[in-house]
Amino acid sequence: MVKLMPKLWERIMEIAFQRLFFYPANEPYSTTSGFYDYGPVGVLMKRKIENLWRTRFIYELGNYEVESSIITPEIILKASGHVDNFTDPIVDCLKCKKKIRADHLAEEKINGFKWNGRIDSLKEVYSENKERIICSCGGEVKDPYLFNLMFKTGIGGNIVPAYSRPETAQGIFTAFLRLFKNHGAKLPFAIGQIGRSFRNEISPRNVLVRMREFTQMELEYFFSPSKHKTENFSKVKDYKIRYLPRKGQKGTFRDVQEISIGELVNKGLFNEIFGFFLAIEWEYYKSVGLDMTKCAFRHLLDGETPHYSKGNMDMEVETSYGIIETIGNAYRTDFDLSQHQSYSKKDFSVFIEEEKKKIIPHVFELSMGVDRMFFSILEHTFREKSREKDWEWFDFPPVIAPYEVAVFPLMKKDGLAEKAKEIAIKLRSIWTILYSENGSIGKRYARADEIGTPYTITIDYETLEKNTVTIRYRNDSKQERVLISDIETKIKDNLIKGKVVL
Ligand code: GLY
Repeated sequence: MVKLMPKLWERIMEIAFQRLFFYPANEPYSTTSGFYDYGPVGVLMKRKIENLWRTRFIYELGNYEVESSIITPEIILKASGHVDNFTDPIVDCLKCKKKIRADHLAEEKINGFKWNGRIDSLKEVYSENKERIICSCGGEVKDPYLFNLMFKTGIGGNIVPAYSRPETAQGIFTAFLRLFKNHGAKLPFAIGQIGRSFRNEISPRNVLVRMREFTQMELEYFFSPSKHKTENFSKVKDYKIRYLPRKGQKGTFRDVQEISIGELVNKGLFNEIFGFFLAIEWEYYKSVGLDMTKCAFRHLLDGETPHYSKGNMDMEVETSYGIIETIGNAYRTDFDLSQHQSYSKKDFSVFIEEEKKKIIPHVFELSMGVDRMFFSILEHTFREKSREKDWEWFDFPPVIAPYEVAVFPLMKKDGLAEKAKEIAIKLRSIWTILYSENGSIGKRYARADEIGTPYTITIDYETLEKNTVTIRYRNDSKQERVLISDIETKIKDNLIKGKVVL
């Protein structure tokens, strides 16, 4: 697999491991793949990505955030359909005994084959192509079957069967009645959650793209099925996004159309609520530094749409490894609440004063994978060595840069380090500061660029005489001299230039 990796992908991985963005978990033991740890640099950036999501999707929209349990009793996941439907097709190699993703193997061996999501059709393809579909060891593979992706456990000495949650969403649905009451027994309202979810992938791969433990940022928007409109819609109706209709090919952006949210909703495929969130997602993606010419929403085909959804419009991102899905937007209808009503025997319907009747609310869900987005950001903001810069660097927007500002004394001696520390400590209350006094100043500039630090403040002899420092700008390496008292305003002015539109 490693041999097939594109050069850029491989380079990003190397840099990520070296610069401590992330690295393989449990490394000295080499026991399992599909788990990665974020290092000190990566954690800073991941938290900023998550906090920006909180700002955009929770605080600015007046929504709420919860933190639910990860270990989930089986009955809940039986109700949600995950016990029966959350599966991948697998085949076993009769020779090397490896378990292989049956759809991937068939797609690799049979030119143009795309699995339609039904196990019967996959079984047919395997039995008709016995000679062609074989394991990489040459062994025979046959009879694909469905493998459940959840990690099973047991609660209290294995008395109650349970699983590590496959999505954060269920904790929101099971608490729905309390959350509804907290919101004044009114619709609509939305609850978000950021947290780990788990999938026991048979073939985890492509580093952060298919992991067994990963972070989701999910939002469940509860609304009355007779009210598909949102007052916020006027703000986004002319907002343009890129869209791949159902007749467009999966795995390529050849048929992508640029379309306004208003036009998309007019097609009758999705409602205003869906449209509103697509625009906010697009804007959020822009602000974390993704190259939007490499992103598009794709209307999923029936066979690919999750079991709980009546329609999905997922964000896909082009990377050097191919196109990957990074956001799922699903119209979950009343599926989950109705299922929990039926399994728990509790009434999940609520009285809506305006409508003078009891209803089970419908749900629009947006589900973002943080790790896949993280990797895509690294790829899209990566800059090669050039004539101007003799090192590779990342063009992170300041809002997600691990360190917004670096503070370096020109030299350690003559009181420069003391002055630099004093400035660094003051600025730490505003930004995350990288402080370093070791090595030549040139090498330190390079190191700051290599982890995408947008601004570097250098303390030199003039600082001691005139209370001025230099600010160096990462992208063009230009420097300007400013008073210490003006550092904050100068950098803040610069940050505002990149402000989001919506
Ligand atoms: N909540 C949707 C998903 O995890 O895929």
